[in-house]
Amino acid sequence: MFGKITRHLSRLRAAAELAFGARPDMLAEARRLMALEAIADPKERHDAFFEYLNWKALREGFEIYNKNLMWQDEPAFWDIWNASPYAGTQRHDRKFVLWSMARSTRHLPGDTAECGVLDGASSYLICSAREDGGLSEHHAFDSFEGLSAPGPEDRPRTSAAFHWTAGDLSVPIEETMLKLGRFGNVRYHRGWIPQRFGEVAARRFSFVHVDVDLYQPTKDSLTFFYPRLVPGGILLCDDYGYHTCPGARRAFDEFAATTPERSVVHLPTGQGFLVKRGPPADGG
Ligand SMILES: C[S@@+](CC[C@H](N)C(=O)[O-])C[C@H]1O[C@@H](n2cnc3c(N)ncnc32)[C@H](O)[C@@H]1O
Repeated sequence: MFGKITRHLSRLRAAAELAFGARPDMLAEARRLMALEAIADPKERHDAFFEYLNWKALREGFEIYNKNLMWQDEPAFWDIWNASPYAGTQRHDRKFVLWSMARSTRHLPGDTAECGVLDGASSYLICSAREDGGLSEHHAFDSFEGLSAPGPEDRPRTSAAFHWTAGDLSVPIEETMLKLGRFGNVRYHRGWIPQRFGEVAARRFSFVHVDVDLYQPTKDSLTFFYPRLVPGGILLCDDYGYHTCPGARRAFDEFAATTPERSVVHLPTGQGFLVKRGPPADGG
């Protein structure tokens, strides 16, 4: 797609410059683009375009995703994602991190949970990552009426920034159940967090995904699930590094400061996580 657009632009630019006269640097760039276009081998052309666009983006202060990262060709992930009802709808790097973490904890005892499920894309990946992992249950907590009312902690720093309102991101539970229908181990807990947490108070968890965008439900989720996380288990917050979710970050930082782990690992995908420490080794 970008190849077509770039080719079209380069032709327009070359024509305009020939017609109206142009700066030498612009002409040189148009010639460079035309030379790229003339490369016959598709792989070679793709790589050359990548190099060109990367150079151009860096000059303008943008960054193009590194094409040498192996996750972009990881069949275990893509086979699941492309066969899912969510293919093509989301940023893949975040979803890959989620899937990879859910998978990396599959050998641990305990269930999985998600707080903030929407139509189920993340729960789908969590369940898929655990399909070969035995009999654990996946617990899905959501109001299915959208967000609760944002509090003062959720106010963005600038008035121009996007801000949430109660009821945003509402999806009917039936839609979520339909999309997650192939997983027999999903337990739905519909209601406002933390009202339904008591239903899983006796269970233990190896992976918990918190994705409720706001301060209070994030804090309530972490406070409830952390003590029930097995050693080595992961608490992942989807919203940690988003300007649009200042409350989620504050909640996780405040909570993490009260734990032995002390702080949150912040990822460039916007996610934040902590791995619960195990008891010290004998004699350690
Ligand atoms: C960003 S969406 C979740 C996206 C989902 N994890 C995914 O990956 O597709 C946030 C969800 O949190 C739910 N939510 C927000 N505040 C809540 C609260 N206080 N109690 C229950 N659910 C809440 C909303 O209903 C919404 O479905």
